[in-house]
Amino acid sequence: MLKIILVAGARPNFMKIAPILRAFKKRPEINPVLVHTGQHYDQNMSGSFFEDLGIKNPDYHLEAGPGSHANQTANIMICFEEVCLKEKPDLVLVVGDVNSTIGAGLVAKKLQIKLAHVEAGLRSGDRSMPEEINRLATDSISDYFFTTEPKGTINLLNEGVPEGKIQFAGHVMIDNLFFQLSRLEKMETSLSTSPLKSRIQKPYICMTMHRPSNVDNKDTLSGLLETVQQLSSDAPVIFPCHPRTKKQIEKFGLMSRFSFYKDQPGLSSGVYLFEPLGYNEFLNLWKDASLVLTDSGGLQEETTALKIPCITMRENTERPVTVDIGSNEIAGTDTEKILALGKKALDGKWKESRIPDKWDGKASERIVEFIVKEL
Ligand code: UD1
Repeated sequence: MLKIILVAGARPNFMKIAPILRAFKKRPEINPVLVHTGQHYDQNMSGSFFEDLGIKNPDYHLEAGPGSHANQTANIMICFEEVCLKEKPDLVLVVGDVNSTIGAGLVAKKLQIKLAHVEAGLRSGDRSMPEEINRLATDSISDYFFTTEPKGTINLLNEGVPEGKIQFAGHVMIDNLFFQLSRLEKMETSLSTSPLKSRIQKPYICMTMHRPSNVDNKDTLSGLLETVQQLSSDAPVIFPCHPRTKKQIEKFGLMSRFSFYKDQPGLSSGVYLFEPLGYNEFLNLWKDASLVLTDSGGLQEETTALKIPCITMRENTERPVTVDIGSNEIAGTDTEKILALGKKALDGKWKESRIPDKWDGKASERIVEFIVKEL
């Protein structure tokens, strides 16, 4: 029996862990132990995802909570070490690039436990991003590397990782997307009467924004909101707002300046601000949007999988396949560029795109096969 600890901590981890757990469950020789670090802790940032995605209750909840990067990562490490010492797993599997990924990874390696990194090899080249540091550090100590796109594999080979340790598996988050979409079809009636969706008519724009580089500086945040405000004269912008962004909007006194609406959106122009949404309600929203505006990593990929126009408000992307063949365009914080691209999307003149290789719903199965063979 192989004991494998899976680590999840922040919102973008949960949808990657869910399909791997489903694949593990089909293998009697694997005993999965689920650890939630507690990096994200609000019901709408964590609890609701477990419910929506049908993930089992974590075997351990470390309650690391908020704090500076050092504080949060250290809390995760201290608590996760106890779990590893008690469980003595054959493998620790981490996903993505959040503080929980590197925190748990470091603990595993220092205890000489094998470490697998799912979504390995992505590089933005921008070391001011905390996630880039987490990616580089996690890949420098991992034993097994599962990549989502060819560039991930190329990056790892260039950094000296032996070829046999890398598997181009495809994308577990897309496994989950397809799985949830088919479930959503059956639930559509009840969800479409959800308070939010039922009040919006097409065409509409869906927006998310939470990167420190976009929201922690008053001028940048205010400039981006101004741009979005302009775009919203052509179609309403629905903006479920991350707690970090909401705090910053309030701190900089931008809430009243931009006249957001907290509820009762009409069907016309305007920017409508909401609390973060659960996985299903958010999917139900963005899957029918004419345009997604985002600075998220995952959403660049998810929109590519459904061929929905996506404008990324960042200067770079660690996920180049979404731009090279997918439906994503990088616009940075450039107002002219965002507005011009926005018009293209709303006029139905977006570029042709394709779904990347191996984004076929079977990445988790490939990962499980590889692990069973290696261990
Ligand atoms: C983290 C990840 C980022 C990911 C994002 C998705 C790192 C380095 N960053 O950033 O890669 O895209 O999650 O959400 O790991 N907060 C709450 N409730 C919560 C969680 C957070 O109010 O449940 C507040 C925190 O108190 C903090 C802010 O939101 O003030 C930011 O949270 P934090 O976990 O530090 O980082 P994220 O910006 O969420």
